[in-house]
Amino acid sequence: MKGILLAGGHGTRLFPLTNIISKHLLPIYDKPMVYYPLSILMLAGIKEVLIITTMRDLPSYKGLFGDGSHLGITISYEVQDQPNGIAEAFLVGKEFIGDDSVGLILGDNIFYGQGLVEILRSATQRSEGATVFGYRVKDPHRFGVAEFDEDYKVISIEEKPQNPRSNVAVTGLYFYDNKVVSIAESISPSDRGELEITDINKAYLSMDQLHIEPLGRGFAWLDTGTHNSLVDASRFIETIENRQGLKVACIEEIAYRMSYISAGQLKELAKRYKNDYGEYLMSIAEQDGEDFFTVKKQNLHKTVERIIG
Ligand code: DAU
Repeated sequence: MKGILLAGGHGTRLFPLTNIISKHLLPIYDKPMVYYPLSILMLAGIKEVLIITTMRDLPSYKGLFGDGSHLGITISYEVQDQPNGIAEAFLVGKEFIGDDSVGLILGDNIFYGQGLVEILRSATQRSEGATVFGYRVKDPHRFGVAEFDEDYKVISIEEKPQNPRSNVAVTGLYFYDNKVVSIAESISPSDRGELEITDINKAYLSMDQLHIEPLGRGFAWLDTGTHNSLVDASRFIETIENRQGLKVACIEEIAYRMSYISAGQLKELAKRYKNDYGEYLMSIAEQDGEDFFTVKKQNLHKTVERIIG
């Protein structure tokens, strides 16, 4: 499965913050926003990622991630000239997708919660159809909204309805089989002039191939579209990280834990940062990596010495 991270658009709602910088590079506490969605693709086990952004912002993303090899993954880039809609990702990314299935994540979506990795893995295992994720919100009219029957089967899906039929928003994480490319080619722009992701989902629904996975109240799905929600998201991450001493969406740590890179490589990455972030990476590499086993081996020797000595 391939992965697309959509980080285009002009971020107009956040002007002047985004006058000269991509919204998805703004900080969420201790790292750029784009780290959070990238970490989700990585946790889903996706190793080939396409980042779609604007011509203006392309050099920044290339500067940040390069070819992805330091994370043990492949990152390539395409430009979306204008924000013509989320579904345009499949047209811009057509060649990249090839004959594969594809996961798409919006660059401003943050997910957090126990069990997420298993949910992601099972979505990537599905060989046919589409998987989207539903999350209860108090303001559903701002999102794609799904309506269900008693068996939690989707009946309808609408984009930003004035009168939402449920409180369940469709989040910005989608997994599709290869049909998504031809479906994207067949849809027309909506009244607001965009190729709507909801129209893609409607097409799967009409084929009875739209699966929706609920993300329950134990999950956090955070918005970063307004000044207030940016601050809220930062505070949320700050609270969790400072309480646990573990980082959320630390892509280098994830690369290591997914065995995309070795402890030695993680240590090299750690040396790039002469700050808390670097120290954190180094501590992960030392605790869990080669050193961890070395320490264990030393302890084992000592124990053996004690027993036989
Ligand atoms: O966040 C989930 C919601 O995302 C879904 O519930 C909606 O169904 C879906 O349409 C979308 O709604 P938004 O109003 O949040 O979409 P927005 O236009 O803000 O774009 C979301 C992200 O995608 C944002 O980070 C910019 C990027 N984007 C958007 C468009 C339309 C692009 O890179 N290119 C685009 O053409």
